[in-house]
Amino acid sequence: MFGMLFGRLRTRLIGSILKEFERVASTNDLAFEMAERGEPEGTVILAREQDAGKGRHGRIWYSRAGRGLYLSVILRPGLSTSQVGRLGTAVAVAVQHTLRRFYHLSASIKWPNDILVQGRKLAGILLESRTVSDQLQFVVIGIGLNTNWEREDLEGEFRTPPTALNLECGAEIDVDRLLQRLLESLDAAYAALVHGRWSRIRSHANGCLEGKGQLVSARCGDNLWQGKLEGLGDEGELLIALPDGSRHRLYGGECSFVDRD
Ligand code: BTN
Repeated sequence: MFGMLFGRLRTRLIGSILKEFERVASTNDLAFEMAERGEPEGTVILAREQDAGKGRHGRIWYSRAGRGLYLSVILRPGLSTSQVGRLGTAVAVAVQHTLRRFYHLSASIKWPNDILVQGRKLAGILLESRTVSDQLQFVVIGIGLNTNWEREDLEGEFRTPPTALNLECGAEIDVDRLLQRLLESLDAAYAALVHGRWSRIRSHANGCLEGKGQLVSARCGDNLWQGKLEGLGDEGELLIALPDGSRHRLYGGECSFVDRD
């Protein structure tokens, strides 16, 4: 399926090993098992179809054949567990950049790492990691990006209204080319992160963060906060200005926009 990529990929690390499958349960689960068995950093696992594609918070990721790019990347970033938010932000920046630069879409990042186009979700990112003490031993980065959808695909049940690249661009998407662009952007963002350019990544993410200045309702476990979304903090956490004048830093969980949802 992605044989065309062979020899064309200009990356330092990501995609140096590329394993393709017709059908798997979840590329993240497979990549996690492979990482546990010592698979090197940079390996990419791709599938045409997933039987049990996973989203965040135990949700299902719609993974029909031909409708999306479903891939997972194994990374061994040598970061502490408290820095995983930076990695997620770097991945979101890479996806957002790919959509803007090559498909001219004004895509935004909805914290922590959904990619939206005009309020509709085009891609999602799921990070799963193994930690030893407070260090990340490896991280599996799962990316699902809706590529070529029919109108009927939009009728499923989705938490956030979805969209797909072909619907936004008005043309069939060449997934080989998209994959190459995405892996090259990821490679660059990851290199920037590990070479100490986090502040550039953070300011890019802040520049395309969905809903800045708007009222959000945030949840982590049983805890709820409501306030104005200020931006991203130094670990990629969400900064929320609370009505009492204090600021809450949200490191995990999710948020929704009060006046929209
Ligand atoms: C989300 O937005 O909730 C995250 C979605 C992540 C989906 C991708 S598809 C490839 C990889 N394998 C999975 O099972 N999930 C991720």
